[in-house]
Amino acid sequence: MDELRDKYIDAIANASDEAALEALRVQAVGKKGEVSLKMRELGKMTPEERQVAGPALNALKTEINAALAARKASLADAALEERLKTEWLDVTLPSRGRRIGTIHPVSQVTEEVTAIFADMGFSVAEGPQIDSDWYNFDALNIPGHHPARAEMDTFYMHRAEGDNRPPHVLRTHTSPVQIRHMEKHGAPCRIIAPGRVYRADYDQTHTPMFHQVEGLALDRDISMANLKWVLEAFFSAFFGTSVKTRFRASHFPFVEPGAEVDIQCSFEGGTVKVGEGDDWLEVLGSGMVHPSVLRAGGVDPDTYQGFAFGMGIDRIAMLKYGIPDLRAFFESDLRWLKHYGFSALEVPTLHGGL
Ligand code: DAH
Repeated sequence: MDELRDKYIDAIANASDEAALEALRVQAVGKKGEVSLKMRELGKMTPEERQVAGPALNALKTEINAALAARKASLADAALEERLKTEWLDVTLPSRGRRIGTIHPVSQVTEEVTAIFADMGFSVAEGPQIDSDWYNFDALNIPGHHPARAEMDTFYMHRAEGDNRPPHVLRTHTSPVQIRHMEKHGAPCRIIAPGRVYRADYDQTHTPMFHQVEGLALDRDISMANLKWVLEAFFSAFFGTSVKTRFRASHFPFVEPGAEVDIQCSFEGGTVKVGEGDDWLEVLGSGMVHPSVLRAGGVDPDTYQGFAFGMGIDRIAMLKYGIPDLRAFFESDLRWLKHYGFSALEVPTLHGGL
């Protein structure tokens, strides 16, 4: 038994891997292992011999099993050590650079415009980009034969033969939101409606999709003077400098009287500077809402009156941020977006700066 112990305890302690260890286990304490065979011999012994040999053999078996378990654990530890040596990760390495997206100038300027008008009590209204020709034209006092209807380069929605739904268009301006707002909320009201509009036109200053912001203020005694004050307050806040406006009589079917509005600027050295000099730049259309338009929106023109205006968001973004070509706005060129885009943290607010 001492021989057996010497043979196995040493061998087990030196087993080089799990397979060698398993072979030793079978050889020693397996069904036909040396220790097991010895145990079978107990039957042939005298009771006196058995009393000595039995416990000794059991103790040997226990010792060998314990040695097997201990070696198994130390082999597993060693294997883990080995893995940890190769599968390590240096978490202190600097991470790979990730490109951070930017806020598009159109989104930024829309937020700026919204912040300024919100401060003057205007809320934001929305309407669909696909609208019926009634909302886009008729309700705005532009009847079927009116030249403005042709001038708008309108995209009409496809109608299959026999489809008798009223014609729908990609809205050519944000003015139809006036009608939808009046229908729903009546007067008095003070809203702006920023959003996408569509016209079939493409050159350096025109893209088939662009952005406008509509304004509408209705009450019992709103006049052209209120319009002028609101627009001057807006442009001064937007450009961060006092800006004079010039109203030129003009015609839009949905207002009477109507005016095109210019802002004061200088053109020196090929750059436009707003709020100085004695040149003028046209930036929007406006006027006193036509009685027919009020009626179409369900508002009584004998009780209420007010002003409306429509302005190109992309255009004022180009002016404020010195962006020369409108088409680049919608080309999604990452270099352009990185250059003209804004950090997501530059949220425009009146107190934080626009
Ligand atoms: N809807 C006009 C356009 O798209 C802009 C406009 C002009 C809107 C005069 C108005 C307005 O509300 O009173 O060209």
